[in-house]
Amino acid sequence: MAGRLDGKVILLTGAGGGLGSAQARLMAQEGATLMLANLPEDPIIAEGKPPSGLWDNAQNVAAEIRDAGGKADVVALDVTKEDQWSAAVAKTEQTFGKLDVLVNNAGIYYHAGLLDHTIDKFHQIVSVNQLGVLLGMKAAVPAMRRNGKGSIVNFASIYGIAGAGVSTAYQSTKGAVRLMTKSAALEFVGDNIRINAICPGMFDTNLFESSVPKEAWGPLVDLVPMKRFGKPEEIAYGTVFLASDESSFMTGADLVIDGGYTCP
Ligand SMILES: NC(=O)c1ccc[n+]([C@@H]2O[C@H](COP(=O)([O-])OP(=O)(O)OC[C@H]3O[C@@H](n4cnc5c(N)ncnc54)[C@H](O)[C@@H]3O)[C@@H](O)[C@H]2O)c1
Repeated sequence: MAGRLDGKVILLTGAGGGLGSAQARLMAQEGATLMLANLPEDPIIAEGKPPSGLWDNAQNVAAEIRDAGGKADVVALDVTKEDQWSAAVAKTEQTFGKLDVLVNNAGIYYHAGLLDHTIDKFHQIVSVNQLGVLLGMKAAVPAMRRNGKGSIVNFASIYGIAGAGVSTAYQSTKGAVRLMTKSAALEFVGDNIRINAICPGMFDTNLFESSVPKEAWGPLVDLVPMKRFGKPEEIAYGTVFLASDESSFMTGADLVIDGGYTCP
């Protein structure tokens, strides 16, 4: 049976994380060839770094995909470093011949009230979540032009749409991702490159577990009309749609996957 992503070469950042690994697995099942990027074990960002194991996880997911007969490789990438982006895109083209899709999934969270925000933390989260997405688009567009087409999927959040009353710095980055997506979508529409954003609601991943205090979980679930957190594969189906030609008339759009959180 034909896969929804047959023939597509995809570079996915944050591939060892909760949402990233689910996307990698589903995209591989749908026939994609994957370059899985993650921050290496020896992190360049010391404070607020993701816990160790996510780089190993990206490698394990790649091995799992290869064992199942698919095509996958890994590349170390700190999304805040422009030279590492050039190297990751070059490795994708050298290994697999082209770049069809970039999924800018890597991100970090910062759970703090406004009065506890520090300049260092603000710069750190802007570097990863906002600058990282901009650098990713900048590195991918020339490769997609060489390919004659492309699709970029940027990770925003419901907290780029609605206020949370906490984590103002995080929210600023996710709002920025939504507008960078729309601006870049207009800039490159003539190049046959589509650029869309995914806005996840709340998902139980490393990002959530490592930063949101447990006592806040119950009240947060209560805010979701479906009264549960999402499952990572529910994001992965959205990414597959935006990466595939099924979404050929979509660009600059937000795909909200949130159990109804942003309805009220
Ligand atoms: N989990 C949620 O509830 C939720 C909600 C809304 C949006 N999101 C967004 O979804 C995306 C994925 O999040 P997740 O929940 O899977 O979190 P996660 O912590 O499980 O995964 C994040 C990934 O990003 C990688 N990463 C962090 N800093 C990096 C850097 N400088 N360079 C390269 N990679 C880096 C980590 O190594 C990890 O693999 C993020 O952009 C996040 O903001 C998540």
